[in-house]
Amino acid sequence: MSDFCPIKGFDHLEFYVGNAKQAALFYSKCFGFTNTAYRGLETGSRETASYVMEQGDIRFVLSTGLSPNHSISKSVLQHGDGVAIIALEVPDAIAAYKESTKRGAIGAIAPTEEEDEYGVLRYSAIHGYGDTLIKFIERSDYSGVFAPGFEPRYQTRPNCKGMGLKAIDHVVGNVELGAMNQWVHFFAETMGFDLLVHFDAEAISTEYSALMSKVMQDSTGSVKFPINEPAPGKRKSQIEEYLKYNYGPGVQHIACATDNIIETVSKLRAAGVEFLRIPQSYYENLEEWVGKIDQPIDKLAELGILVDRDEEGYLLQIFTQPVEDRPTLFFEVIERHGAQGFGEGNFKSLFVAIEREQAVRGNL
Ligand code: FE2
Repeated sequence: MSDFCPIKGFDHLEFYVGNAKQAALFYSKCFGFTNTAYRGLETGSRETASYVMEQGDIRFVLSTGLSPNHSISKSVLQHGDGVAIIALEVPDAIAAYKESTKRGAIGAIAPTEEEDEYGVLRYSAIHGYGDTLIKFIERSDYSGVFAPGFEPRYQTRPNCKGMGLKAIDHVVGNVELGAMNQWVHFFAETMGFDLLVHFDAEAISTEYSALMSKVMQDSTGSVKFPINEPAPGKRKSQIEEYLKYNYGPGVQHIACATDNIIETVSKLRAAGVEFLRIPQSYYENLEEWVGKIDQPIDKLAELGILVDRDEEGYLLQIFTQPVEDRPTLFFEVIERHGAQGFGEGNFKSLFVAIEREQAVRGNL
């Protein structure tokens, strides 16, 4: 059943931004991405400019509309800068579209072929939560740098190791109160995803606010989509704050995996990336409940890195501040040592830290 929409993994995330040229510099200088391809006026693209940014196996595309009436410009006006398209690599973009729309997904881009001297790139897209699109990309007959119309930004392929971010671990969406199960069913029914884990309001609550979360994943486990919805609390939850400022549902955070979180976070901090502050008390009896880990606790405390353990191992994680003025999209850096969870042991301390920031913004 789950093979009706096979998926190879994340292909890229496309961000719609107000100024892609400056955003490219931000993701390059602060996050260590390399600009590998470009499309814009100079390459004959009259409507949009796009920068392909790579690090490890992670690919972001930053796109801007060149006129106020372009759909990208309208999206930025509404939502601010953020993820507009979640692109998944599939073996067959036509079949993915047919199978998902047959099962209830709403088509956004009918199967399309683009061709240049490097072959044929096929893609299609369906509507996801909010205004987000889920795009299916078929690359098997295409050997160009990214897609037809893009020009490489290099003579010889650069080393895109950057700051050690190596792959997208998961992409989290925030949806309205009561909509989580609808999207759980959407990913299950239209794309054959399975429910990996479920966190109820009880597990994810603080004194003031709560949220619920369900994690959907594809049959290979390479694509994980946690979906959050706010739960009633005394004050405004972080999900409600997001929904208010994003003007609707959308991608809340992108978790990027690294093999050395201490090195990666040290480099990101030195480059100016701001992370959530974690109280020192978190580290005082950390080893008692997480057990033995390979990393020095004092170094984790210095950088504000969180630790969690489950039956299969442990993980280290940290969260950035939102990367825009609107309190919307942020990043997570995660290093897994066996653990397949999402840091549920940290939810409480993490949300208390987020609420401290919400209060500073006047939104708690
Ligand atoms: Fe996460």
